[in-house]
Amino acid sequence: MIDLSTELAGLRLKNPVLLASGTWGYGQELSQYLDLSLFGALVTKGISLEPRPGNPPPRLVETPCGLINAIGLENPGLKAFATKIIPYLRRFKVPLIANIFGESPEEYVTLTAELSSLVDAIEVNVSCPNVKRGGLLFGSEPAELARLVEKVCQAASVPVIVKLPPKTLGIGELAQVCEAAGAAALSLINTVPAMAIDLHRRGSRLGVISGGLSGPVIKPIALKLVYEVVKAVKIPVIGIGGITCATDVAEFLILGARAVQIGTANLISPRAGSRILQDLPPLLSELGVSSVSQLIGSFRSE
Ligand SMILES: Cc1cc2nc3c(=O)[nH]c(=O)nc-3n(C[C@H](O)[C@H](O)[C@H](O)COP(=O)(O)O)c2cc1C
Repeated sequence: MIDLSTELAGLRLKNPVLLASGTWGYGQELSQYLDLSLFGALVTKGISLEPRPGNPPPRLVETPCGLINAIGLENPGLKAFATKIIPYLRRFKVPLIANIFGESPEEYVTLTAELSSLVDAIEVNVSCPNVKRGGLLFGSEPAELARLVEKVCQAASVPVIVKLPPKTLGIGELAQVCEAAGAAALSLINTVPAMAIDLHRRGSRLGVISGGLSGPVIKPIALKLVYEVVKAVKIPVIGIGGITCATDVAEFLILGARAVQIGTANLISPRAGSRILQDLPPLLSELGVSSVSQLIGSFRSE
């Protein structure tokens, strides 16, 4: 019998496979095809204080092995999330992690304080512009990030997971400031800034100029950044980026990720997550381990 359980920021998870924010809606449509109670935890689509309509279409472009999205963080806002979506998702009896974002630190703090009694953890998306500071991304500058994470952690009564952007230089420092500011875990990576060109119109193929790249094409970048962050901090790390099969999951675990999130794969096949969960125990046996914890951090650097 293979033990798939893992521990993350004080949460006991029955397996290390989570569904990533923004890629499975709020479960209403997906639950016809996929049993959401199978997963270690569910990370909900990003929520802001007020409802947001998102960006004008087109909002999705396919590229070889990847997807560029410019959804613009469309969501129904905190009130509808708290009163309608959370009660619906609670029926699946798995830990719920609410992904949040704001345009100011105050928005993040209010969201955290309101959601702390309703969910099991908060995942803070820092790939959003601080409108008050002229659009600088919260996740791009260590001192700014530290201030944000500290405020959010003070307002939280559940573990705070900070979701890091794919910063290829200085990701270790970003991770360390989050740890010092009180983050209970880190998740990475978010999408990679990207564009797609319409040759005939000589414009962008997205309604807005650029978006975020996800899917198998970003997996090698995500692996490298998870490797850097695992070395830099003691708090648990959740690996995200291009995971489509059990082998991909095992690669992130070997590097030291304590859990993973499945994103774009849900859009390729709504049953991707359950297939991955089915394939994980035989893969672990093949690798000669009887538990996920034996695989985590087993990477050999020589
Ligand atoms: C359509 C779409 C919507 C997303 N929405 C969010 C979001 O609301 N908040 C967030 O933190 N990440 C969001 N993400 C990023 C994913 O959660 C994930 O970090 C990223 O897609 C990389 O994983 P993947 O390659 O497995 O998709 C979104 C991704 C996609 C494709």
